[in-house]
Amino acid sequence: MTSKTVALGTWAWGDSGEAGDGYFGSQLTASGLREVVEKAQASGFTLWDTAVVYGMGRSETALAQALKGYDRGEYQLSTKFTPQIAGDGDDPVADLLEQSLDRLGTDYVDLYWIHNPADVARWTPPLIPLLRRGRIKHVGVSNHNLKEIALADEILGEADFRVEAVQNHYSLLYRSSERAGILDHCREHDVRFFSYMVLEQGALTGRYSSARPLPEGSSRAAVYNGVLPRLQALTDRMAAIGEERGASAADVATAWAIAKGTTPIVGVTKADHVDGLVRAQGIALTAEEIAELEALADATDVDTRGSWEREM
Ligand SMILES: NC(=O)c1ccc[n+]([C@@H]2O[C@H](COP(=O)([O-])OP(=O)(O)OC[C@H]3O[C@@H](n4cnc5c(N)ncnc54)[C@H](OP(=O)(O)O)[C@@H]3O)[C@@H](O)[C@H]2O)c1
Repeated sequence: MTSKTVALGTWAWGDSGEAGDGYFGSQLTASGLREVVEKAQASGFTLWDTAVVYGMGRSETALAQALKGYDRGEYQLSTKFTPQIAGDGDDPVADLLEQSLDRLGTDYVDLYWIHNPADVARWTPPLIPLLRRGRIKHVGVSNHNLKEIALADEILGEADFRVEAVQNHYSLLYRSSERAGILDHCREHDVRFFSYMVLEQGALTGRYSSARPLPEGSSRAAVYNGVLPRLQALTDRMAAIGEERGASAADVATAWAIAKGTTPIVGVTKADHVDGLVRAQGIALTAEEIAELEALADATDVDTRGSWEREM
């Protein structure tokens, strides 16, 4: 898939670009996103995660536009089949993949995900012919629990393929995959674990507070603004740990996810964020620091499970 320790997320790239509108409410421009891509590619971060449902195609389109001019072999694409929007044709998985390929301007996806375990037995088998035809190179499952991962792996295994990656919500504030044994399972079975929302959509960067809340009117503001005061002790400590290394609280959050043996997918929206990823890669947190941060995270008593997630 790629050798680097961090992947790039583009959910926010699906916002319309109007202030306060959409899930993130950030104002992103095509030229700004091009700068993000140029810096990331030059820094060796070349695995881009998107999904058709991020702005209903807008994220995939914006990503393709921002990657224009790079050879296909210079970057890897990761996108998703979302069962809830499957059509009623003969092969809804192939149909949605073809539409994604079209928007992405390519004839294969490096990593194709089943976005959630709505019906594992139904949606896993159609991936097999797509793997055989080389339309997808690797398969991953997202938001699946241990039993669902095993079922998908068994179905693919019958055709000599396997689940090669898992993508779940995993941050200092949300460690259900670790508690459910999914991290251990992945380590033992050589399955790459991608952690999403390691920055809790900005809430764990230390850049947002009651005085400087997340963009008004956005979905992430509705989820996080009310709990920002409870995160202060944690983000202050992250900032202090970062400062000793010339890094930020966000870099420490990313470094923590790397230290736990996962590949964070960080939702970069500014070229500067890529500098943070470079710094995060160079941070080796001590066992004491990790334990302290996790204790502070637990003490917040904040549950950041997404509305789309179930208990693991
Ligand atoms: N499979 C799934 O169900 C699922 C669910 C959620 C996410 N994902 C994937 O995981 C990716 C990451 O999650 P996410 O984008 O929701 O949230 P995230 O990575 O936790 O946070 C992203 C936000 O943090 C800020 N940020 C990003 N990099 C930063 C840095 N280095 N320093 C400081 N601030 C930084 C940006 O906010 P500002 O723009 O305000 O600066 C950005 O919008 C998504 O883009 C998507 O690819 C998958």
